[in-house]
Amino acid sequence: MATDRKTLWEQFLSPIVRSIVDEEAMLRLSRRIDWETEVQRRRNESIVYPDYYRTSNFHGIEGGYLTAGAAVSYDPITQYVLPPNEMWVRAGLIEAVRSKPRRILDLGCGTGSTTRLLKQAFSEATVIGLDLSPYMLVMANYQAVLAGSDIVWKHGNAEETGFDDESFDLISLSLLLHETPPDVSQRILNECFRLLKSGGEAIVLDGNQAALRQTPWLTNVFEEPYIQAYAEGSVGQWMQKVGFEAVETREHWWLHQVTRGVKPLVVRDFETSISGEGLAFA
Ligand SMILES: C[S@@+](CC[C@H](N)C(=O)[O-])C[C@H]1O[C@@H](n2cnc3c(N)ncnc32)[C@H](O)[C@@H]1O
Repeated sequence: MATDRKTLWEQFLSPIVRSIVDEEAMLRLSRRIDWETEVQRRRNESIVYPDYYRTSNFHGIEGGYLTAGAAVSYDPITQYVLPPNEMWVRAGLIEAVRSKPRRILDLGCGTGSTTRLLKQAFSEATVIGLDLSPYMLVMANYQAVLAGSDIVWKHGNAEETGFDDESFDLISLSLLLHETPPDVSQRILNECFRLLKSGGEAIVLDGNQAALRQTPWLTNVFEEPYIQAYAEGSVGQWMQKVGFEAVETREHWWLHQVTRGVKPLVVRDFETSISGEGLAFA
């Protein structure tokens, strides 16, 4: 029976959240945007959507992220699903940064909440937010303009971004990897490694895998098709597998975790840096 397959989200949480969220305000916001024109402006026609993305109704929204509804409802709902407080949770990613990055890439940036925090924290840096959904990017740009935040938005796939090798100092992934199948997560982390300069940092903020494994009912709550597979894996190990070093994961407000890894300095870089100071051995 269809009722048996209903998730906890459909049965209980969606009606509760719907009663808290101001649907009229969402509709008003949606009407303020000329979606057809704006999506067309953001869309890169050469992007091919991966199957996992095209066919999943993330968060119970038919059409998933490729809809205006997903973009408009994302922020009002997310504030209730990141306990104890959305901003404290997102701040964990910023606090994990140990360098002063000049070029930052936020992969799977969504509506840009973490991207804007990065720009706020590193105002001198060029900050780019990349997402597969042009709808989410329209909302990200709308919010950034309101906040006076100068961010570049790019429609693209985090598995293959098209940016040059070693072109970023910091890459952030905020709430992305619990939504991608593990093989895709692995390819995304591989792409991060390619894109980072030696010594650059990758920082992943997402669900606490250890906690999610102990609470399997939670994985059924929010209509997340890949969260179970995410919970069974280890972001730290995935990062080590592609070559990151000094990988550390720390629990963040129990339900979340922050993992940081560094792209190692290669011998070539070391030799260049010492020969630059007149210390070459040859
Ligand atoms: C849960 S949202 C997180 C959004 C945002 N980073 C945040 O912290 O609120 C996941 C985002 O990842 C995007 N996404 C999923 N797979 C992607 C991929 N392969 N490449 C780029 N973006 C992707 C989705 O479109 C969605 O906007």
